[in-house]
Amino acid sequence: MTDPAPEDPGERLTRGELAALQRERLRATLQHAYDNVPFHRRAFDAAGVRPRDCATLSDLGRFPFTTKADLRDHYPFGMFAVPEGRIRRIHASSGTTGRPTVVGYTDRDLDTWAGLVARSLRAAGVRPGDRVHVAYGYGLFTGGLGAHYGAERLGCTVIPASGGMTSRQVRLIQDFRPRVIMVTPSYLLTLLDEFERQGVDPRSTSLRVAVLGAEPWTEGMRREIEERFALDACDIYGLSEVMGPGVAQECVETKDGPHLWEDHFYPEIVDPVTGEVLPDGEPGELVLTSLTNEAMPVVRYRTRDLTRLLPGTARVFRRMERITGRSDDLVIVRGVNLFPSQVEEIVLHVPGVAPHFQLRLTREGRLDRLTVRAESRPGTPPERRAEAAGEIARRIKDDVGVTAAVEIVEPGSLERSVGKIKRVVDLRETPAT
Ligand code: DLL
Repeated sequence: MTDPAPEDPGERLTRGELAALQRERLRATLQHAYDNVPFHRRAFDAAGVRPRDCATLSDLGRFPFTTKADLRDHYPFGMFAVPEGRIRRIHASSGTTGRPTVVGYTDRDLDTWAGLVARSLRAAGVRPGDRVHVAYGYGLFTGGLGAHYGAERLGCTVIPASGGMTSRQVRLIQDFRPRVIMVTPSYLLTLLDEFERQGVDPRSTSLRVAVLGAEPWTEGMRREIEERFALDACDIYGLSEVMGPGVAQECVETKDGPHLWEDHFYPEIVDPVTGEVLPDGEPGELVLTSLTNEAMPVVRYRTRDLTRLLPGTARVFRRMERITGRSDDLVIVRGVNLFPSQVEEIVLHVPGVAPHFQLRLTREGRLDRLTVRAESRPGTPPERRAEAAGEIARRIKDDVGVTAAVEIVEPGSLERSVGKIKRVVDLRETPAT
């Protein structure tokens, strides 16, 4: 079968050509950052390194990291490397605390971004002519507009639904019959429930491809989504500080974790505590350096996302393992480390329990208490609910090593996602008096 989608040349590089391109682009990026962003110049000078010291890719390890705090400290435009007149668009990520982080794009950056999202969609099995329902939020968040321009670039018809107004989304999907949906996995579950509430079998819809990201999700969740809708679900990764969605994308033929688009982003894995660069295959924090960003080059950006680098399969580029959590999502209960994704895997394996759950942390005296609230599936008898609670508690104890109280609550009683979901409610902080 001939493939009508234009493949971009970046995807056809050999490993050797890729390394040469990365070296050249890396040196240009470091020079651009040094010449045009006072923050980077000061940081390089303080570390005693100059852009020309980066002769090989591993020399990057001598350069200083950039953190989210650095971006915040230069709010709003202090990290921009081009004159204001060349900034064509601004996005920002909503910091839950304090100032948001702001990102700028030149014309060329927007062009690169659309190209990489188009490449990502193609890898997920999307083809020109497909209708694409975009339910990522439009606005300062990079999800909506990033997805939108990428889908247009591939030659798709875009339905810019944005997030929210769930019952209307369900109607639009039935009426417009998109083949593709781009949405957070948690909001896709909200849509799934809404289809069922309206008496529509989700498997009967036109949706065949889901491109899901912006938050962690598990293999268990993939199975749930693929089976309850009749579709292929692939993982898309990205972050606003580096570009937005489309930094890495899972290929539909292998579904084995996102391939990093290494011709535009150079990945490293570091020990989250010491900052030491770790070899491929070792778990640690993903650090990204942009290779082609003009408006805002990022040098060794600490993503806080925890993963491993693995060899490429469907593409020449290396893969990242599905993100198991962010260092700042890590919940420490009585000294034991726990990621919400570990609880998700467990909850999704227990019959009678729906994929909606929440972790609540409280403190009794000096002791942390973890309560897992999970919804029962409709029609689950009370005795099965009690068994399910016991099963979840036992598996959390066995697999994670922490004691949790488990409550199985009524279907529909936990708050639903309209975008990125918040899984953890931490009530341990004693309120100031
Ligand atoms: O979430 C960009 C995006 C939009 C990616 C739509 C994919 C789809 P931020 O709001 O800056 O940007 O949040 C970035 O979200 O550091 C991860 O912690 C998390 N994240 C993004 N994609 C994934 C994923 C967008 N596929 C932060 N799996 C990142 C797990 C993800 N976590």
